Amino acid sequence: MRAVDRAVAGFLPYLPKALVGRVANRYIAGETVEDAIRVARDLNSKGFRATMDILGEDIHRLDQAHSAAENYRALLGELHRQKIDSNVSVKLTQLGLKVDKKECLSLADSVVARAQELGNFVRLDMEDSSCTSDTLEIYSDLRRRHANVGVVIQAYLHRTADDVARLIDSKPNFRLCKGVYVEPESIAWHDMRQINRNYLEILERLLRAGIYVGIATHDEHIVQTAQRLIAELKLPPAAYEFQMLLGVTEPLRARIRTAGHPLRVYIPFGRDWYAYSVRRLRENPRLAGYVLKAMLISSS
Ligand code: FDA
Repeated sequence: MRAVDRAVAGFLPYLPKALVGRVANRYIAGETVEDAIRVARDLNSKGFRATMDILGEDIHRLDQAHSAAENYRALLGELHRQKIDSNVSVKLTQLGLKVDKKECLSLADSVVARAQELGNFVRLDMEDSSCTSDTLEIYSDLRRRHANVGVVIQAYLHRTADDVARLIDSKPNFRLCKGVYVEPESIAWHDMRQINRNYLEILERLLRAGIYVGIATHDEHIVQTAQRLIAELKLPPAAYEFQMLLGVTEPLRARIRTAGHPLRVYIPFGRDWYAYSVRRLRENPRLAGYVLKAMLISSS
């Protein structure tokens, strides 16, 4: 990240919410289910699958967790009714992971069971390292009862290769990503070359073992290496998919699809868009340009 981008990233929390919203709206479908469905329908018509994330994480009361689970069950019903090719991505802290783990498991089970009734699928997003063990534990528990659930693993964590070794016999369904949270060097690599190396080693191990992988990345080098591996292993499109975030590297997204690979777009939406937007903007290497442009537009 250039110095000017770093400076803008540091100032993000002090910028007006409306300004952050204007810059971030390319990463978010909108506030309502209808907004998300409109975006997914458009993506479906262009050959992309979708996954939907109702924004909001780390709730503090169980009634919030119950209503989040209800919102996900209702969303699954709506996706089915409107024949949208989209599954859902859920953060366990939104279902009360930090409040009551047992209740969180039961709520997650209710969402996965509803998806199963409707022939759909639930992906458990992975949050910061304070959630890793609990998320994998809840995933394993759900997986024993339901085939239609998957989890995310993060290539920047030292532990991930061991987690993969432990889970591989259960034929998991993984999304593999680099990892987005700020973690200490004692548990996570910070050097991008090391993260990329670990990403590709884990990816190869999973694909060779016949494990379904959602290859979640916008990194051209990783995409190309994955495509070579898929060709070498003669994997059918049913064995994997690429995954990207809404609004990010759309030309690369189109090229992957044109090459015949399945690709799923992650669609975040909801009233709690602010924390997600700030995270996306902090990651974005062209952050300063976008924010400055929005400031100029808003002051003109
Ligand atoms: P990298 O960060 O190296 O980016 C490669 C290139 O992509 C950049 O050079 C830039 O051009 C472009 N790019 C990346 N991010 C951009 C942005 N925000 N705006 C514009 N351009 C951008 N993490 C996690 O910890 N838990 C999770 O559950 C998930 N879930 C998830 C789902 C999906 C579908 C994706 C694609 C990603 C996640 N992530 C995640 C986030 C992931 O861990 C990671 O932080 C980002 O994908 C960025 O890493 P890349 O692999 O894209 O590479």
